[in-house]
Amino acid sequence: MKKHFLITAGPTHEPLDPVRYLTNRSSGKMGYALAGAAAHEGHRVTLISGPCELDVPTGVDFIPVETAAEMYEAVKRYIGKSDIAIFAAAVADYRPAHVPDQKIKKTGDTLTIEFIKNPDILGSAREVFGYQGTLIGFAAETENVEKNARVKLQKKGCDFVVANDVSRKDIGFDSSENEVALIFAEHTEPLPKADKYQLSLDIIERALAI
Ligand code: PMT
Repeated sequence: MKKHFLITAGPTHEPLDPVRYLTNRSSGKMGYALAGAAAHEGHRVTLISGPCELDVPTGVDFIPVETAAEMYEAVKRYIGKSDIAIFAAAVADYRPAHVPDQKIKKTGDTLTIEFIKNPDILGSAREVFGYQGTLIGFAAETENVEKNARVKLQKKGCDFVVANDVSRKDIGFDSSENEVALIFAEHTEPLPKADKYQLSLDIIERALAI
């Protein structure tokens, strides 16, 4: 049966001043592959994406955002219409507490910026948005991959978490391939290294089976 997917993708940009921002190495390839694969399989897809230089996959409803706060608002608005939500975006955990109207001047040898926590969008899905569909998170880890991903699975109320080791150069951020483990409450299913599109088909198949 055809479903409605909501997928988050890409990095967020957190402004430091009018000309600078804080971001991360996410290219959006993983989230766009998921969106493209789901659309190709005939599902309806809402893709909420941070700034990426990728072509939007054919047939998806595209919602561009810049900051974590904007992504939060977009997910809040659209998630209720979806059957399956997959959070592949690399959302900044913190943003500058104050964003000046003018460019920060080079006045001292050091610069201290205070950061405040961004909302946890995935963590809000069940508890704040009351989402009852199938919920799939990602876990980007550099150590204790499975253990840390399992904590995220429980804490964020996911049906499963897609865990990847982002310390590796050949997979994860900005690579066309990934190697992931699907972390379920009762078991772990490792998927071999593959093209992100092929992995997306596998992830979608597991999501549809829940
Ligand atoms: O975009 P690519 O270059 O293809 O790279 C793919 C990827 C490495 C970005 C992707 O495979 C991946 O791991 N995405 C999740 C990145 C991440 O931020 O993971 P995390 O472990 O910090 O966060 C856990 C989960 O909570 C994620 O589903 C994340 O989307 C979500 N989250 C995190 C923080 C926040 N404030 N809100 C969130 O929704």
